[in-house]
Amino acid sequence: MLSPHTLSTPFTKLVGLSAPIQLAAMPGIATADLVAAVADAGGLGMLGAPMMSRALLERVLEQLSERTKGAFGVNFLIPFLDLECVSVAARRARVVEFFYGEPDPRLVERARAFGALASWQVGSLAEAVAAERAGCDFIVVQGTEAGGHVRGGTSLLPLLSLVLDTARVPVVAAGGIATARSLAGVLACGAGAARIGTRFVVAAESGAHPSYVEALLAASATDTCLTEAFSVLWPDAPHRVLRSAIAAAEALREDIIGEETQPDGVFPVHRLSVVPPTLTTTGHVEAMALYAGESVGNVSSVQPAAAIVSELVTGAERLLRDAGRFLGGRDG
Ligand SMILES: Cc1cc2nc3c(=O)[nH]c(=O)nc-3n(C[C@H](O)[C@H](O)[C@H](O)COP(=O)(O)O)c2cc1C
Repeated sequence: MLSPHTLSTPFTKLVGLSAPIQLAAMPGIATADLVAAVADAGGLGMLGAPMMSRALLERVLEQLSERTKGAFGVNFLIPFLDLECVSVAARRARVVEFFYGEPDPRLVERARAFGALASWQVGSLAEAVAAERAGCDFIVVQGTEAGGHVRGGTSLLPLLSLVLDTARVPVVAAGGIATARSLAGVLACGAGAARIGTRFVVAAESGAHPSYVEALLAASATDTCLTEAFSVLWPDAPHRVLRSAIAAAEALREDIIGEETQPDGVFPVHRLSVVPPTLTTTGHVEAMALYAGESVGNVSSVQPAAAIVSELVTGAERLLRDAGRFLGGRDG
């Protein structure tokens, strides 16, 4: 059931949403359950598909189509790109999105060939301009506050302002947004939606390991840091994690620190691997990649995704309506 929210933006109209919220793609964490729950709540659910086989991606997307009438998309990380998977996603998803590489018109064309919308998450003004020039239908601007891999070197508001001054397509804001106040803030700036990761890592439908969730609930913004520590499988790519995870990993000596069960087998988790701990992970969870944005300080309880969407949207609506009081000297 789509909720009857009233925050309508060029982005929500383009994608067909009732909530100006995009779930961040988080492989292993943003499970099909979480993607469907956000889509059902009127937001855009995003599935992360790095290293997913074509057959598995096809199966998951088919199941998602059966489970939700809402909108969902697929995110591809350029260093792990499988072109055939892009075509599979383009046939079945509303949005096909790319991250961590130069915007490429050929990829955008492939994504749009079957009617999907194409987007690119960017970390600089130059990359935003290139994404629009490549033909993207919308752009996601990521600030350095963000959890997970971080593309650029500027925090959200300065970069968002620059991009909004030049972009002609809808812009989604990412990094550090976990409350109704921060959602209202970026919407008031002119963004079409917020892309939210860390807050949804602790959603009831998340695939995050319970110890990872507990660590996030206890942490504040200053407990996170930008690092290149978790670089096995993906070197030279800065990411924001809980600092405690780096210390725990450095204290271990063994190369294999746990195991993870996936649909196609059981895999070892290497020390300093990029893979975050999920419900099927065993071993030294505290020493794995505990991705967290600065928004982690605003994350204090486990809730169903629909409750998170509803809290953010109704709160932002109220704040934006209240902010109108200050216009025209009507605040007295
Ligand atoms: C656990 C985790 C995994 C992530 N994985 C991806 C990914 O695979 N692709 C991607 O485009 N962004 C990824 N991101 C970054 C998000 O897209 C987004 O920029 C970020 O979550 C926004 O900041 P926030 O965490 O403060 O909400 C990830 C973020 C987290 C927290």
